[in-house]
Amino acid sequence: MNGSRPWWESAVIYQIYPRSFQDSDDDGIGDLNGITERLPYLVDLGVDAIWISPIFRSPMKDFGYDIADYIDIDPIFGTISDFDRLVAAAHARGIKVILDFVPNHSSDQHAWFVESRGSRNNPKRDWYIWRDPAPGGGPPNNWLSEFGGSAWEFDPTTAQYYYHAFLNSQPDLNWRNPQVVEAMREVLRFWLGKGVDGFRADVIWHLIKDAQFRDNPLNPDYHAGRPPNEALVPLYTTDLPEVHDVIATLRRTIDEFPNRLLIGEIYLPVERLVAYYGRDLGGVHLPFNFALLNVRWDARCIQSLIAEYEGSLPEGGWPNWVLGNHDRPRIAGRVGARQATVAAMLLLTLRGTPTIYYGDELGMPQVDISRERVRDPFERNVPGIGVGRDGCRTPMQWEAGENAGFTAAEPWLPLANDWRSNNVAELRGDARSILNLYRRLLRLRKETPALSVGAYRPYAVDEDLLAYYRELNDERLLIVLNLTDRPQALKLEEGAHAKILVSTRAERDGERVPGIVTIVGDEGLVIDLASR
Ligand code: GLC
Ligand code: MG
Repeated sequence: MNGSRPWWESAVIYQIYPRSFQDSDDDGIGDLNGITERLPYLVDLGVDAIWISPIFRSPMKDFGYDIADYIDIDPIFGTISDFDRLVAAAHARGIKVILDFVPNHSSDQHAWFVESRGSRNNPKRDWYIWRDPAPGGGPPNNWLSEFGGSAWEFDPTTAQYYYHAFLNSQPDLNWRNPQVVEAMREVLRFWLGKGVDGFRADVIWHLIKDAQFRDNPLNPDYHAGRPPNEALVPLYTTDLPEVHDVIATLRRTIDEFPNRLLIGEIYLPVERLVAYYGRDLGGVHLPFNFALLNVRWDARCIQSLIAEYEGSLPEGGWPNWVLGNHDRPRIAGRVGARQATVAAMLLLTLRGTPTIYYGDELGMPQVDISRERVRDPFERNVPGIGVGRDGCRTPMQWEAGENAGFTAAEPWLPLANDWRSNNVAELRGDARSILNLYRRLLRLRKETPALSVGAYRPYAVDEDLLAYYRELNDERLLIVLNLTDRPQALKLEEGAHAKILVSTRAERDGERVPGIVTIVGDEGLVIDLASR
């Protein structure tokens, strides 16, 4: 339908946090067979690809982001054959599979690190980042871990420190060592050879650190209540120029296989983010755009961030949008249940590839986790300032039966309180539910190329309405989003024959609109301007 465009430009990605999607073996933790069982749901929803957070062998100190074997599946999630079955079943249903690639660090249980720490002259010593203590003793420099405390851990066996940007059980690999680069390229080839359609690369802007190990400068804007690592500006630990060469090498590896996608997890301001498309677009295909995760929920702020992002993209660079993930508070928790429908319409009508976080299509809430149930190591290390990530990782809510149909055992994290009424079975049967809004928008995207690949053009806004066109050939759509709970009106510049294609309130679908369109509180509309 879209000529020679790569599949991922018109695709919608759905992120699965596998521990919380569907348990198949009654251990309270989701697994690969659980995902396979639920593929019909994803087809019915209308997504094109799933990105699965890490499923590899791991001691689970950071719930899979600490990998002990990059080319094996953790028994909690299943086996390699379960994985092969999942890929085959997904592909048979037209769903692509994207894996999580965690290149920056391994687990301290990985055989590479076990060797590396064995002795100073071990062949794998230089696969990680080892330094002598500072001249007066203590860590080599002031670098801080994202998860609290020094980023240096002293290892008594060899009396040196190793660097870890995250937990001390997550030692950073040394990407300046060509052997590490080659070993990781082999990891990519292993999974690509199994038919996976791409990777989301974890903290990819972290891969290269300063060769001179200079101290990071103090952050003058730091204030109490923020995570302690923010006391320093990560000038010498992240976003170094050489990282782009490493990424270009990874990209070439991906390109050894046809039609594969490389996404980068990068938390940077937009002008630095877009550098990750790489010279001649030879970097990641999609540097995740997290701008919506923090924006003030206000029409002007959102419109100006869209303009800034659209205006910063390199020629040919394809945009993308994210509303939530396993590290950030749920959108329904941030903007409320009603605005969550408006947010859904925003995500699915902006220009660029959207990623839906599992459960957001149900408006799943941000869950308060009591102190005894906290599992996230970030919250355990840095308690009480709200960094905990468990609240956005609670089990998927499938039905009103036991444990919401997620498991027959005690779920690893508590369910949200609303699961008896707010679940797939219930919402699927209610034409006006947020789930059916997602389904209608996803169907409309498939039928209307203007929505997936058409141009974006802002419509003059006032304080409270966000409005923009999406246009392709004869298709002309106007999206109008009311970011308040008060009714609004908008005078259409044109479009005597305008018709509502999708309203966040289903009952208005198909309504003809005159020269002035009224928008009730918390409503969003996709209006067809070309229709007669
Ligand atoms: C990424 C992951 C996060 C993890 C961290 C360390 O930010 O999304 O969940 O804790 O990397 O691997
Ligand atoms: Mg299980």
